[in-house]
Amino acid sequence: MGKSTVPKPPIVVLTGAGISKESGLDTFRDADGIWAKVNIEDVATPGGFHRDPARVHDFYNMRRRGLNDPGVGPNPGHLALARLEKEWPGEVLIVTQNIDDLHERAGNANLIHMHGELNKVRCQGCGAVMGWTGDLGVGDACPRCTRTGTLRPHIVWFGEMPLEMERIQEALDGCGLFVSIGTSGNVYPAAGFVSHVRAVGIAHTVELNLEPSVGASLFAETLYGPASETVPAFVDRVLTRGW
Ligand code: APR
Repeated sequence: MGKSTVPKPPIVVLTGAGISKESGLDTFRDADGIWAKVNIEDVATPGGFHRDPARVHDFYNMRRRGLNDPGVGPNPGHLALARLEKEWPGEVLIVTQNIDDLHERAGNANLIHMHGELNKVRCQGCGAVMGWTGDLGVGDACPRCTRTGTLRPHIVWFGEMPLEMERIQEALDGCGLFVSIGTSGNVYPAAGFVSHVRAVGIAHTVELNLEPSVGASLFAETLYGPASETVPAFVDRVLTRGW
């Protein structure tokens, strides 16, 4: 079914690690999460990278290998969001905190990775951002400027500015529906999006999560369960009778 001609209000969907959990990727703050096994300061801050770049490269190399494992792919939660973008007769923007590429692989194109992307690197010498699916090491040379020692993961670390915030704020200002999926609501600015939406307009706000997030009480509607079940059911509802 293609998109009908009557334009409908824009939808903004924020996703977090929970939507990728059933694809086999770890979350951060669950009991078995990433931050239970490694110290944020050591691997996800500019200071940590300055102190021990090889350790940071190892951390992201392991996660990049995990993501690019042939057994890892989009789950029904990702696929439902791709269907929403395809069939909703208005704009659908996915704003993800995730650095995996599962939304793209599911078929979403209107997508912002506000915390960067695991399969990309950035050169601190020439500023180039390029695809990189293998291991990254301190001795690797920038394919564009040939400098060595200047490449870092294209990932936003704690203390750094998330990407495309202006575009995200504009989308939040104008949306009719804001859905938050699979995020614990611990990290700003993403955790503040629901308050921003409530303050600026009349959008409906929905949380789809395994359990109530820190900001659960800020949402007009909450639905709990695994994303592979809640997201397809919610997308079916929106496409058949709106919200
Ligand atoms: N389906 C839906 N939600 C799930 C599932 C699932 N199968 N499994 C776990 N969750 C939920 C958890 O209940 C939790 O609320 O997903 C959320 C994951 O929260 P976090 O681990 O904190 O991940 P996230 O919110 O994405 O973290 C935000 O913090 O460390 C930084 O940059 C990192 O982007 C990350 C940011």
